[in-house]
Amino acid sequence: MRIAIFRYEDWEKKLLEEELQGHDITFFEKGLTKDELPQENDFEVVIVFVDSEVTEEIISHFPKLSLIATRSTGFDHIDFQAAKNKEVKIAYVPAYGEETVAEFAFALLLTLSRKIYQSYNRVRETGSFELTGLRGFDLNRKTLGVIGTGKIGRNVIQIAKGFDMNVIAYDPYPNAEAAEKLGFVYKTLEEVLKESDIVTLHVPYMESTHHLLNDKTFALMKDGAYLVNTSRGAIVDTEALARALKSGKIAGAGLDVLEEEGAIKDELNLLAEGHPEEHNLKTILTNHVLIDLPNVIVTPHNAFNTAEALQRITQTTIDNIKNFTEGKEFCEVK
Ligand code: NAI
Repeated sequence: MRIAIFRYEDWEKKLLEEELQGHDITFFEKGLTKDELPQENDFEVVIVFVDSEVTEEIISHFPKLSLIATRSTGFDHIDFQAAKNKEVKIAYVPAYGEETVAEFAFALLLTLSRKIYQSYNRVRETGSFELTGLRGFDLNRKTLGVIGTGKIGRNVIQIAKGFDMNVIAYDPYPNAEAAEKLGFVYKTLEEVLKESDIVTLHVPYMESTHHLLNDKTFALMKDGAYLVNTSRGAIVDTEALARALKSGKIAGAGLDVLEEEGAIKDELNLLAEGHPEEHNLKTILTNHVLIDLPNVIVTPHNAFNTAEALQRITQTTIDNIKNFTEGKEFCEVK
């Protein structure tokens, strides 16, 4: 098969060449975008990452295409309908890092609770070992509110139990077995927001979770509560969060994801391309305000990024391609 991989690292190249021997693989350094379509268009399989926008135009560019393999769980960067119309199948990675992302959520939480970043900066920037302003708080016996008890949420709960935290959770599809096994209690969303010292988000982004946290829901939260978001930026109304932080309603936030984070990565292009929507610009500006706040930790969508998780992603992608070419079952988006 003629296979193209868009954006790769050297170790992935080595692994793909070893595991997909017999196939003709072409390696492209950058993501697959309409502005940088390769001249060769006879690929039957394209391997992409979330930075590739696989639109109808791109799918049509490859007349022999039969499989798009994305190295991610999410596939909203691929035009599903266009692929279906052209009988192109989509392979994805259903699970690779529930422990990985859960560990990162706790890394953000501990960075906030123990002022790790400020402590590090104090010593490094000023050479001072003075403790003023560096007092934190214990996680032990605090109430953690987990919104979304899927794969990542349940791993977060398991870690929280190691800290002897009191865990309450909300999920429209409660998992009674997990609640019993891990020792947490399901409550309504309102109750979880009202009772938690820290709220951590582990829901997928969709219409019903858009701005799940907004002025109204922030108002329900405890005064001085903390927020951790490793899900998707738009689950939180950015401006409402800025207001909640300013008023002290929210004492601090750890955010691995930001609304409009794609645009913030490429602001020059956004401005050069003409007419960005006013609300996008407002969100981007507010993101900069959040980034500058001392009680907010923003990381660049890095929660998935461990050697082990990436190894699993690549291995599942290779298995998907092998199974597809052998006519066997693979992790297919249906
Ligand atoms: P999952 O599908 O296993 O669990 C999601 C849970 O959310 C389900 O139990 C579902 O019932 C629940 N849910 C749906 N709507 C809800 C609502 N309105 N309120 C409360 N719960 C709701 O997903 P998983 O693997 O736990 O991942 C969660 C999210 O984490 C992903 O959708 C993705 O957006 C994000 N993620 C972020 C990464 C990063 O690098 N920052 C990496 C991987 C995932």
